[in-house]
Amino acid sequence: SSTPVNVTVTGAAGQIGYALLFRIASGQLLGADTPVRLRLLEIPQAVRAAEGTAMELEDSAFPALAGVDVFDDAKRAFEGTNVALLVGARPRTKGMERGDLLSANGGIFRPQGEAINSGAADDIRVLVVGNPANTNALIAQTHAPDVPAERFTAMTRLDHNRAIAQLAKKLGVPSSEIKKITIWGNHSATQYPDIFHAQVGGRSGAEAVGDEKWIAEEFIPRVAKRGAEIIEVRGASSAASAASAAIDHVYSWVNGTPEGDWTSAALPSDGSYGVPEGLISSFPVTSAGGRFEIVQGLELDAFSREKIDASVRELAEEREAVRALGLI
Ligand code: NAI
Repeated sequence: SSTPVNVTVTGAAGQIGYALLFRIASGQLLGADTPVRLRLLEIPQAVRAAEGTAMELEDSAFPALAGVDVFDDAKRAFEGTNVALLVGARPRTKGMERGDLLSANGGIFRPQGEAINSGAADDIRVLVVGNPANTNALIAQTHAPDVPAERFTAMTRLDHNRAIAQLAKKLGVPSSEIKKITIWGNHSATQYPDIFHAQVGGRSGAEAVGDEKWIAEEFIPRVAKRGAEIIEVRGASSAASAASAAIDHVYSWVNGTPEGDWTSAALPSDGSYGVPEGLISSFPVTSAGGRFEIVQGLELDAFSREKIDASVRELAEEREAVRALGLI
């Protein structure tokens, strides 16, 4: 029907990539009527595996898939890109210090930011999934000065979905009845999943639960450490649920959030809620007209304030660390 949208996926041969690409190609990222051209970026050693996935995409004969190209060069992979999903990152390995981890990721996200700056389409939207997602997004964004900063986001939608699921299970209601969940701060164990502003039926999530001890001692740590729990049980890190959340994030961004609800996304702070400007921190957001907007005016009690401050402090420390390393 229309010109295909170019979608670049990095880390395409990885486990999230394998789940994500088929969801995109089937039309779930942007809507079934929007044709998509996939551009897969991998490191040279994994290009052949990405080509194998490209063959399987071909074999699926997706009506909305206009084509698949595989690259090992960021400059080429981001040429004309409208949506960039930055999934590939350097994981922390045994004995690796935080500085080594940040440097290794700087070596990935700086050139990718530069490539986006010089070659992507004017309407480029970037979602960083690869960890440390918020700070990787900050590095890429810093090196794309010609792209509006708010086009760089990091993923906390998986945390958001996990929070909905845990609250729905506790209350014995379908997840569709839970509205206005918020993840604040960093996509890390310091994140703050907030159900005080959530709505279930006519009540706040916290009221519906009626058990502050459960919120503080079970719900919050469970959501924040769910990634580790999945590794423990599954023997591998979350992949399909992460891919599903990435689809949700971009779908909400492009198509809007429903009336009476909001979602969570990490985006450059404008100073809202006292979060230092420029930090890529998670907020409650609505989306309309292809733009995320931070929900304003929520009242934060001392409990929430302290949790948000702790996570934001961690983000500020990560920013200082990458600054000291010359990565931003
Ligand atoms: P994986 O190790 O299976 O795949 C990563 C892929 O990235 C590999 O194929 C690797 O070759 C590729 N890669 C590495 N450097 C690259 C570069 N410079 N350019 C292009 N590709 C590159 O990892 P998995 O499970 O797919 O996870 C990917 C990332 O997503 C990890 O950093 C993980 O921590 C993160 N993650 C984030 C979540 C979130 O909620 N924000 C949730 C789950 C995972």
